[in-house]
Amino acid sequence: MELSKKEAIEALKKGEVVALPTETVYGLAASIYHLEGIEKIFALKGRPLQNPLIIHSSCLSMISDFIQTPLPPQFDELANHFWPGPLTLVLPVKEEMVPPLVRASLASCGFRVPLLPLTREIIEETGPLVMPSANLSGRPSATSPEAIVEDFGASFPFVNGGNSKKGVESTILIFYEAEWKIGRLGAISPEELMPFLGYLPQIIEKKEGSAPLCPGHSYRHYAPKAHLLFNETAYSTKASFILGFKERKYPQDKTVLELGSLENPYEVAQNLYASLRKLDALGAKSAWVDMDFPKEGLWQTIDERLKRAGE
Ligand code: TXA
Ligand code: MG
Repeated sequence: MELSKKEAIEALKKGEVVALPTETVYGLAASIYHLEGIEKIFALKGRPLQNPLIIHSSCLSMISDFIQTPLPPQFDELANHFWPGPLTLVLPVKEEMVPPLVRASLASCGFRVPLLPLTREIIEETGPLVMPSANLSGRPSATSPEAIVEDFGASFPFVNGGNSKKGVESTILIFYEAEWKIGRLGAISPEELMPFLGYLPQIIEKKEGSAPLCPGHSYRHYAPKAHLLFNETAYSTKASFILGFKERKYPQDKTVLELGSLENPYEVAQNLYASLRKLDALGAKSAWVDMDFPKEGLWQTIDERLKRAGE
């Protein structure tokens, strides 16, 4: 059920959950001041309680009461350049200011200022909102109102912002062992962060037996019902569906879903989750994925999401 901006603001102020557009993916929003709304987000998504949420604000000053100082080095450079935008910074918090449920009882929290003006205008009225991606846990994230209806039904309240421009989630940076490291690859590539950090940020790998630094990223994610196949070739695979690129020719007896152009990772990222969801809509049991694409910049995020979707 589509809500106007005004209706969404009223609902959020009452502690209700509303799906909101952002430049990355749609989020399931609740006010940080309404615990019942936050609890409802976990129930609606089927989200493990150990998976902390990102706090979204319309500007830095809105969250300054939550953040513990001193801030990690280069925080100013990162926030000044990338906010508003698809960068989440994990920062130490004043624990009494942020409900444990939001931060999975950690002493830190993820923060970001979304780019879409409509969303920031809503947050200006409601105050900070927690917003995980608007999908059932494990499913590909929602990048359109249609995807929200697929997962939560036609009566679920959402604000219509059209298709998400970036199509993949924010990049998460965590300051750990004296450096900013990438907890989750996302819409901003490691290469784009380098000029602001003076080094190429490492990607945090999950270590067996120790608590994950980015808890959410250890759960099964982004997966369609269809089984994704990465090996073999387009000609030897038994899959009847192919996820591929505009420029390439594939066997004619297969149904090809185009991710976009090999020249344009932004387009591919934008179409990624909708293509995975389309496989399900078409009843695909399996699909072969053309993984022969560049591996630098945003392609690295695309590569990681496709592999995770196939786990
Ligand atoms: O683009 C996005 O970030 C979207 C839109 C809606 O803003 N949101 C999103 O939220 O992707 P979600 O809940 O799907 O992912 C939140 C991620 C999880 O991987 C979680 O581990 C990480 O944020 N996170 C949150 N707080 C953290 C913390 N204190 N330490 C480490 N990771 C944290
Ligand atoms: Mg998510």
